[in-house]
Amino acid sequence: MKEVTDISSYDATKLVFYVNGKRVEETDVDPKMTLATYLRDKLKLTGTKIGCNEGGCGACTIMVSHVEDGEIKHFSANSCLMPICGVFGKAVTTVEGIGSVAKNRLHPVAHGSQCGFCTPGFVMAMYALLRNNPNPTVSDINLGLQAFYSFAVDENGTLKVSEDNGCGMGENCCKLKKKDENGSCGGEETTPGYTGGDRKRKIQLSDLSDCKPYDPTQELIFPPELKLHGYESKSFAYDHDHTKWYQPVSYENLLCLKRELPHARLISGNSELAIELKFRFIDLPAVINPRQVKELHARHLEDNGVYMGTGMSLTDMDNYTVQLMKELPKERTGVLKHVHEMLHWFAGIHVRNVASVAGNIATASPISDLNPIWMASNARVVLDSDARGEKKVHIDEKFFLGYRKTVIQPDEIIKAVIVPLTQENEHFAAYKQAQRREDDIAIVTGAFLVKLDPKTLIVENIRISYGGMAPTTKLALNTMEKLKGVKWSEEFLDKTLGLLSEELKLPAGVPGGMSQYRLSLALSFFFKFFLEVSKKLNLTEIKFVDCDLKIGQDVPQTLYATQLYQKLWNADDINVADCLHMAFVLSPIAHGTLNSIDYTAAMNVDGVIGYLDDYGSYSNPETFKASRNFYKLPETSRNFQKQALEAESFVFKHFVIHSSLNDNEQVIKNDWSKYDRVVEGSIDMGGQEHFYLETQQCIVIPHEDDELEIIISNQCVNDVQIEVAKCLGIAQHKIQTKVKRIGGGFGGKESTGAILAVPASLAAKKFGKSIKFKFERFDDMAITGTRHPFTLQYKLAVDENGKFIDLDFTALSNSGHTIDLSMGVMQRAMVHADNVYKFANADITGKMCKTHLASNTAFRGFGGPQGMFGTEIMVKHVAEQFGWDHDEIRQKNFYQEGDCTPFGMHLNQCNVTRTWEECRKNSDYDKRLEEVKKFNENNKFRKRGIYLTPTRFGIGFGLKQLNQAGALVLVYTDGSVLVSHGGMEMGQGLHTKILQIAARCLEIPIEKVHIHDTSTDKVPNASATAASVGSDMNGLAVQDACRQIMERLAPFKKLNPDGKWDDWVKAAYVERVSLSASGFGIIHHEPVDFFNGKGAELFGYSVYGTACCEVEVDCLTGDHHLLRTDIVMDVGESLNPAIDIGQIEGAFIQGYGLFTMEEVKIRPDGIRLTRGPGNYKIPSADDAPRHFNVSLLGNSSNKMGIFSSKAIGEPPLFLGSCAFFAIREAVRAYRIQNGKTDYFAFHSPSTPERIRMACEDFVTSHVPPLPEEGSYTPWTTSV
Ligand SMILES: Cc1cc2nc3c(=O)[nH]c(=O)nc-3n(C[C@H](O)[C@H](O)[C@H](O)COP(=O)(O)OP(=O)(O)OC[C@H]3O[C@@H](n4cnc5c(N)ncnc54)[C@H](O)[C@@H]3O)c2cc1C
Ligand code: FES
Repeated sequence: MKEVTDISSYDATKLVFYVNGKRVEETDVDPKMTLATYLRDKLKLTGTKIGCNEGGCGACTIMVSHVEDGEIKHFSANSCLMPICGVFGKAVTTVEGIGSVAKNRLHPVAHGSQCGFCTPGFVMAMYALLRNNPNPTVSDINLGLQAFYSFAVDENGTLKVSEDNGCGMGENCCKLKKKDENGSCGGEETTPGYTGGDRKRKIQLSDLSDCKPYDPTQELIFPPELKLHGYESKSFAYDHDHTKWYQPVSYENLLCLKRELPHARLISGNSELAIELKFRFIDLPAVINPRQVKELHARHLEDNGVYMGTGMSLTDMDNYTVQLMKELPKERTGVLKHVHEMLHWFAGIHVRNVASVAGNIATASPISDLNPIWMASNARVVLDSDARGEKKVHIDEKFFLGYRKTVIQPDEIIKAVIVPLTQENEHFAAYKQAQRREDDIAIVTGAFLVKLDPKTLIVENIRISYGGMAPTTKLALNTMEKLKGVKWSEEFLDKTLGLLSEELKLPAGVPGGMSQYRLSLALSFFFKFFLEVSKKLNLTEIKFVDCDLKIGQDVPQTLYATQLYQKLWNADDINVADCLHMAFVLSPIAHGTLNSIDYTAAMNVDGVIGYLDDYGSYSNPETFKASRNFYKLPETSRNFQKQALEAESFVFKHFVIHSSLNDNEQVIKNDWSKYDRVVEGSIDMGGQEHFYLETQQCIVIPHEDDELEIIISNQCVNDVQIEVAKCLGIAQHKIQTKVKRIGGGFGGKESTGAILAVPASLAAKKFGKSIKFKFERFDDMAITGTRHPFTLQYKLAVDENGKFIDLDFTALSNSGHTIDLSMGVMQRAMVHADNVYKFANADITGKMCKTHLASNTAFRGFGGPQGMFGTEIMVKHVAEQFGWDHDEIRQKNFYQEGDCTPFGMHLNQCNVTRTWEECRKNSDYDKRLEEVKKFNENNKFRKRGIYLTPTRFGIGFGLKQLNQAGALVLVYTDGSVLVSHGGMEMGQGLHTKILQIAARCLEIPIEKVHIHDTSTDKVPNASATAASVGSDMNGLAVQDACRQIMERLAPFKKLNPDGKWDDWVKAAYVERVSLSASGFGIIHHEPVDFFNGKGAELFGYSVYGTACCEVEVDCLTGDHHLLRTDIVMDVGESLNPAIDIGQIEGAFIQGYGLFTMEEVKIRPDGIRLTRGPGNYKIPSADDAPRHFNVSLLGNSSNKMGIFSSKAIGEPPLFLGSCAFFAIREAVRAYRIQNGKTDYFAFHSPSTPERIRMACEDFVTSHVPPLPEEGSYTPWTTSV
């Protein structure tokens, strides 16, 4: 008999699987390679995108089909986590396999959105859902969309899915409404200008009539070979270079393998191992995949427990749990219920479809979601080994030996977990709190079991377990011991909180940080458990027992879906023959001096052919400094603002604005001592990662005569061209930089292109080959900077009527180590510090602080949101300090038509009041405000907040020269038109708007017009696609070129008035009239003198908007839910209402993330902790408001915009702060209930930690204060 480690003893030794119906047989692939890499690099199926490579974004989602118990099963999975050998004998479907644009055979779910980078992931998630369940409910779809990002959802129409009839049109479904005369669905009228509408109108804007109904019979069939040849029961082994893959089917062989190869890693779902491989560079000489062993899939009920084999995925386990909850009496399923609930918050569905419970237990993470449940419920694992046989071991205080260590021996496997059924008089509950509600690793998880004597209420047994409070999952043994025999009562609660606070206390600089919050959570969880049990037992003598503790669950959910999907090409999808790949090696320390570099070790790595040690000729020392950045990670300085104020060396530059200079020659300084009502304060606002789905990347192709072709994911081809030319010492005309589209930019790709394009160009020159350079998400987040964090200091005087009479406002920005775009960002912050309010006098100062952080850069809003945030805080401060109604105060100070801003711009067509009033009415604000007050009176620990937030955003670049654009319009003899302009398509719908403009100017159908790409050899010197003016400026340039063409065609139209476009074009060609034209456009700009504080008519116009948000906050945990958002936005006469509404929704969600959840975390030594989706959370699909109504203001025009339209990209972003202020209202209600009525400084973002710590109460009173600042090293530092 052959040895179990002998590869040749296995049924199959070649990797066989199917992709989109085609057979793949592999004999030469590294088993450590992921399916995503294989699909993209080997099969060139680039529809599957890689956004993070760590299971956090969903861009790489594919569908896997296999045979299980004779049936074909489908599931969605993250291909970036799936090891290539994991699909042995299975069929993989990628987005290319479900339809094709080219063949006009799109699948009904293949209708994508925004920049398209994550669209394939969305599409495949929905496809897998439909393959398993052709009639999904709303909650099925919600589940299918878990882990996807919310800003990426929607550009051109959203689809509402109704629980009742399952139709995408929801209540507008033609089955529910009579068809109108034209036979189309729904009878509702649209208002001209699409005003006053809501999500229903959005559906009307999208024409779904082309969507073919779903026909399951048209799907790819499961490959007959896989079924006929019984691949599911074939053993498989594979040997490649350094890694051997074993996939036995017999249980005995599995145990023998573990005996022979005790240090071989078992690989179940690979969701943990993939991360270890990527970030800890673990060695994997041998792996054993136990998933095909039938015994591991066993599940049954046994004495007082449920046996679940570890071959089940977490999804299977969840399904089995739900089945048992239906079959068993309710009182027995206490633990099962909480396993089921916890699994909903455990990762996303695509991870749960593959991950196992064994992987979770064996990993022994201190923040595991399930281990606290196993510990508190006294669950057991079945461990088995060939040498010692099977044993059942309790998961208790002896199971976890230390950080990521368990009692499991190297030759043992986890065969099953046995989950206890609750006994009579036992009560069980588990809770989790994370930074983001869905698909996020826990901050703290708590699980509790108590057995009470029903008559005496004496505690007979109690188990309290926590994750996130120690290096291992922890049982609070001391507390448990002291609580036995104590009567369940309010005194019991008090005693428990005291004991837990003592036992769980964390040192101030504890790894992971948030020591006080984590302890508060641990205590609050117990308090919740105490109330739940007391409520169940109807113990009315216990205070608060009537309180409902769950938040936001009574509101039905609205869903998003789709817009026309296409197969989109991004820079990394382009295959260039004989191409080298390049990567940066980053310094392990944040700040230091580079003395020398030893390349020996790097040169010994397989495949490395060389390095770059020549930085070219840099004329500008600042550029040189920036380019050297890739050898070091910068560090932060604690309290940089304080230092900046004290030491001028920390400040790059000072800017000022004095409103008095608008009417006077001299600055007028008022005497502040004369004012009766003055508020003074300071507020911090954190930075924000761009988190574009497509990381920064480029390809440089060297051509003859020093020419370079650069394909790059960037918002400014011109800057890249300039920087490369400068650094390589060659003329710009030899460098062609081009972009097809980018997978999101948000400002992060405005000025950063040179960081990779310059070294890639140098390498292309050095090695004479094409170079592909793509940042891993991990590096991208460390190198490219973020939105500027700000501190905003204010002093405001008001008169007795609440009118703003004097303002002193200082904005400090953390610019990082180079000036980059910090001046522009600061200037915009300063010219938005008034937001929508008239100040009789205002002095505004801006200081850019230099720190050793990565250089911060542009981000949608470009400083505007930071400036306005300070203002809105100030307004709250005034209202709360003097007991005024904040809405009244704001209305009193709103700008009126023709008013002048502190920076000297007169506001014409000023729509502040109109958007405010319309939003107030649409949202039913006044009525709901009363309801919120009532809700808060009736609920002790859940509070609601509702808030209105107005905004004004000035349109145009702050620098005069940037306010220009060019275009090239080419007409061909068949009448088709090619338009080129300087703007980039990045999901904002710019090309669509430009096509509309060209078609309108040339009076031809839009189908006749096409845009290839954006390239420096078609339009020179183009400004970045930024400042929201993409369609304003480029549209004007296109309009100018079209006008010239139309003038040239006019004689031919006159000669042949009955002819058509094609006839006139041909006639012009025959007569030798040029059919190409370059156009040019500029928009209004007058420079403000920021050095002397003298204002000017800086912008051509402003965009106005108002949002209303209602939230519900769990004051015990800091969790919140956005219940409803209404927005009224003034976009003039919209060029494309569907795109504009999509932009408003996307910007709002991005702003909502900025102000409520996204937190850039940096260690005091400068190491950046937030470097991927695992620890940096942006809003997911679940975070979108449950009701989301966006309206465009009617009867608004704009003298300064193309076709009377207004820009839209950035203006709505600040409205995301409305959710922050609504949260603050809820927190304030809780504070007032607890006797704290004063104004309180509440910094942004309003993370669960900030919310909970602001909700001071009897639970937080058990949390000891932090030691004196400076006496310890905190885990993270404020930036
Ligand atoms: C995006 C993402 C989100 C996540 N979210 C969460 C979350 O919300 N909560 C949470 O708790 N975890 C989370 N995790 C962590 C991880 O998914 C879980 O721990 C998961 O249960 C691991 O299971 P797996 O089968 O994928 O393990 P694998 O990666 O296959 O294995 C992990 C470890 O377990 C060992 N192992 C596997 N099977 C066995 C077995 N039968 N017997 C003995 N040892 C075995 C392996 O050798 C390895 O050491 C997340 C991970 C990712 C990538
Ligand atoms: S690339 Fe796989 S989840 Fe992000």
